[in-house]
Amino acid sequence: MKRYILAITGASGSIFGIRLLKEIASSNHVYLVVSRSALPIIRDETGLDLRSDPLSVIKEHTSSDNIDVFDDDNLYAPIASGSFENDGMFIAPCTMKTLSAVAAGGSSNLIERAADVIIKESRKLVLCPREMPFSPIHLENMLKLSRIGVSIAPPVPAFYNRPGSIDDMIDFVVGKLLDCMNIKNDLYNRWGGD
Ligand SMILES: Cc1cc2nc3c(=O)[nH]c(=O)nc-3n(C[C@H](O)[C@H](O)[C@H](O)COP(=O)(O)O)c2cc1C
Repeated sequence: MKRYILAITGASGSIFGIRLLKEIASSNHVYLVVSRSALPIIRDETGLDLRSDPLSVIKEHTSSDNIDVFDDDNLYAPIASGSFENDGMFIAPCTMKTLSAVAAGGSSNLIERAADVIIKESRKLVLCPREMPFSPIHLENMLKLSRIGVSIAPPVPAFYNRPGSIDDMIDFVVGKLLDCMNIKNDLYNRWGGD
């Protein structure tokens, strides 16, 4: 079973992280970190309350036991170390605050430290930055990370596949995030040229 780190930070669009979690955890092990800022946003946007017993709520929601949850201030977690073997990390959605810290090599919490470790160990990092519009500072941070191989995959839906619902649009974005990590999925209709 492959092992992926998933961080959900305090941007709008927490549903992308929650949907991604369900998909990855169906056949992989997931090491989940939810930032403090993300907790009320997840509750407001999805109805999931992860504040008191996140692991139970997450396991019930995903119907998966393949998940470990760590506090964002737990720098003793295994994912804080380069010696911990894993197959890559997602930050979805990713705030501009966390984006800037990752671009600057900051490690002031577990999410930033885990991302810094992924980069130093030359593993795969996929970011789903959510802001509208992006400022030049945001764009420079994204360009800096993109140049060292980080995938910058904002939650931008396509319409060539004729989405019929919000779920279709979410699945498209989540499918593209999985594509960035080379995880096979059938979450959206791929363009066949016809
Ligand atoms: C309701 C709400 C929505 C937010 N949406 C965004 C967003 O889409 N993008 C963003 O960069 N920050 C957003 N923020 C601000 C971040 O939550 C804030 O910068 C926070 O410090 C990020 O911390 P984190 O990266 O550790 O989660 C939002 C805040 C609130 C309260």
